[in-house]
Amino acid sequence: MQNKCYITTPIYYPNAEPHLGSAYTTIVADFLARFYRDVGYKTFFLTGLDEHGEKIEKTAKDKGIEPKAFVDEMAALFKKAWERLGIEYDYFIRTTDEKHKKGVQAFLEKVMENGDIYLGTYEGYYCVGCERYYTEKELLEGLLCPLHLKKVEEKRIESYFFRLSKYKEMLLDFYDKNKNFIPDYYIDQIKNNLKELKDLSISRPKSQVSWGIELPFDKEHVAYVWFDALLNYYTACPKDMWPPDMQIIGKDILWFHAVIWPAMLMAVKEKLPSRILAHGFLTVDGRKMSKSLGNVINPIEMAEKYGNDALRYYLITKIAFGVDGDFSINAFKYAYNNELIGHYGNLANRLAAISNSTDYEKALYHDNEKIKEAIEVLHNSARLYNAESIIKCYTDKIWPIISDINAFLNKEEPWKKKNNSKNVIGQCLNAFFNVSVLLRPLLPNATSNILNNNIKIRDIREDISMQWNPVKKQYVVYKKVD
Ligand code: MSP
Repeated sequence: MQNKCYITTPIYYPNAEPHLGSAYTTIVADFLARFYRDVGYKTFFLTGLDEHGEKIEKTAKDKGIEPKAFVDEMAALFKKAWERLGIEYDYFIRTTDEKHKKGVQAFLEKVMENGDIYLGTYEGYYCVGCERYYTEKELLEGLLCPLHLKKVEEKRIESYFFRLSKYKEMLLDFYDKNKNFIPDYYIDQIKNNLKELKDLSISRPKSQVSWGIELPFDKEHVAYVWFDALLNYYTACPKDMWPPDMQIIGKDILWFHAVIWPAMLMAVKEKLPSRILAHGFLTVDGRKMSKSLGNVINPIEMAEKYGNDALRYYLITKIAFGVDGDFSINAFKYAYNNELIGHYGNLANRLAAISNSTDYEKALYHDNEKIKEAIEVLHNSARLYNAESIIKCYTDKIWPIISDINAFLNKEEPWKKKNNSKNVIGQCLNAFFNVSVLLRPLLPNATSNILNNNIKIRDIREDISMQWNPVKKQYVVYKKVD
């Protein structure tokens, strides 16, 4: 059977347009999806929007429009933004889609039949910004939401509950047997929070929120927005792609993905996801992004100024995946000018110039083992769905080959047309094209200029010795920017 990779991003709240944070998650996921397609896995990359709930209802109301009209507008905006950033998703889910709504209702029906849903009352502290209830312990002094620093609302309502607490032991057992499910450094925190695992309120009376999916067994209630949202991964998935292999999320929503999500699937006896990959939060030049500080980075503007590859290259190779990272404008410009233009672009231009003016012969790069080794590492990391080691292979093994080729050219000076010049140029072209194939997920634009999109890593594995095109003309891979 063909290997597969089902990869997801969180579905974003469409109350504001995409920003650097959501762009980061989506770009990493797109990079991985492109990588898996290239290594020959059957790949399904899902992203989309979380369109229900009180927050969206409120935002639309404040703007004086119907929620559906508002989310339609925002969905078009998100799709345009992702297109502009070169995101090639396989499916864009919206939780207002009929298919999704029916899927959620069928799922609820099934959980109800299995006896895991009951009617109760809920007393709690609700933060509209987070769309969730907090316990008193989780709040800051003065009943403030720890994320929004705003006073939460105290509420007592009739609600349906999911027997989440019933799954505590099964979850612990699952984490023990599947060490890669969530990153090591989060497991203690999750296990600790599990100690007080309570059942989860999964409905809201329509009198409180009407913008949601009606419960199939009680028309007066709609599904809690997180229960609805998590199921997007299920309702949008083609049958043969289940379960998810890599679910990319920010660390802020780990609890929902590491605890609630697998328990929901356990309740209907579905296979569980392989890996939840949580990344850290981005600051800009060391400070939290905020409009008032004037340091908000608009990813679309970045792409317009520097091209898509530059933003992708920076976010993937300079932000350590998994921990909080900083977007430094100076570091970004440095990477762009010195690495993209200075290393890769420079090599492309040099080879274009030399190969046009000097004959060359087909030759295998003298240091071919390095390329083979990188490919080996990529394939092994792919099998383990290990995003960190895939990324590390790009920075530590593949990128240095570019400097090696440049150094080899400097040393051999084939433009002086010495005896072995033809062979040196052939070797460099061989290495350059092999590396360019590997770089496709990281630099889709530059590499497609160079490769015409025809070559896959698999092909190279079969015939690593000679998969190259002569460079016919001078390529301008990147334009220099101050
Ligand atoms: N709608 C929920 C997710 C439901 S998934 C079933 C949600 N949406 S969100 O619009 O708030 O997006 C959250 C995601 O955006 C985070 O998990 C993270 O992936 C990304 N980021 C938002 N701000 C971020 C940063 N400052 N830095 C990095 N990523 C962050 O939560």
